[in-house]
Amino acid sequence: MSSPPPLEMDSTEKRNSCGAIRTEPLATGPEIAGQPYSVSILKEGYCLAQPDGSTRADGTISLLQGPKTILVDTGGPWDRDFLLGRLREKGLEPDDISIVVGTHGHSDHVGNLGLFPGAMLVVGCDVSQGDRYLPNQLAEGRPYPIDDNVSIIPTPGHTGRDVSVLVKGTPVGTVLVAGDLFEHCADEDTWRELSENPVVQEVSRQEALQIADVIIPGHGAPFRVCRDLGD
Ligand SMILES: [Fe+2]
Repeated sequence: MSSPPPLEMDSTEKRNSCGAIRTEPLATGPEIAGQPYSVSILKEGYCLAQPDGSTRADGTISLLQGPKTILVDTGGPWDRDFLLGRLREKGLEPDDISIVVGTHGHSDHVGNLGLFPGAMLVVGCDVSQGDRYLPNQLAEGRPYPIDDNVSIIPTPGHTGRDVSVLVKGTPVGTVLVAGDLFEHCADEDTWRELSENPVVQEVSRQEALQIADVIIPGHGAPFRVCRDLGD
């Protein structure tokens, strides 16, 4: 991905060649039922500054159910029993998960990969099945398609090798499960301090806002992207 020019924008609305982009909370809640894929938020991530200067944080855990059963992020190690319980509520055991995507390598997103040794693992730009690492071009900026509706796309910046999961054709349009590309709906004043490369991440965010109708962020509730065409 080429280096972008610095962008100037305010915290509530962004302008671009297609007009204004706004974001607003998604009203449907944590379940987006659809065909061929449903999207469920098993745990809504959070990031809470504490009075002692520490931060309490956990990453959003999402489940796609359709032709493949895909878990996107696994929460932190402390979520082990919670995650197993939430999967059982869906009638699933760990062996039923066909693909586990870790959007990036932070501990609150990939803390339970060990529950899924039989799944295809996509962690950042590494794609593996068991000890077999599969060729891909995520690090070169190319998507890794799963099927006609789901693809894994590179969205770097928060770390060097973040990926997001793009789900097309849901009842709310195209959903992007975005890891920490977006911290939460109104993160414009805070995401840069958590970013390894804000310039690259800004480009990834702008591209995401052009293709997604709904974004599931890494540490907050899902939100809708409203593109008002024209000026
Ligand atoms: Fe992170």
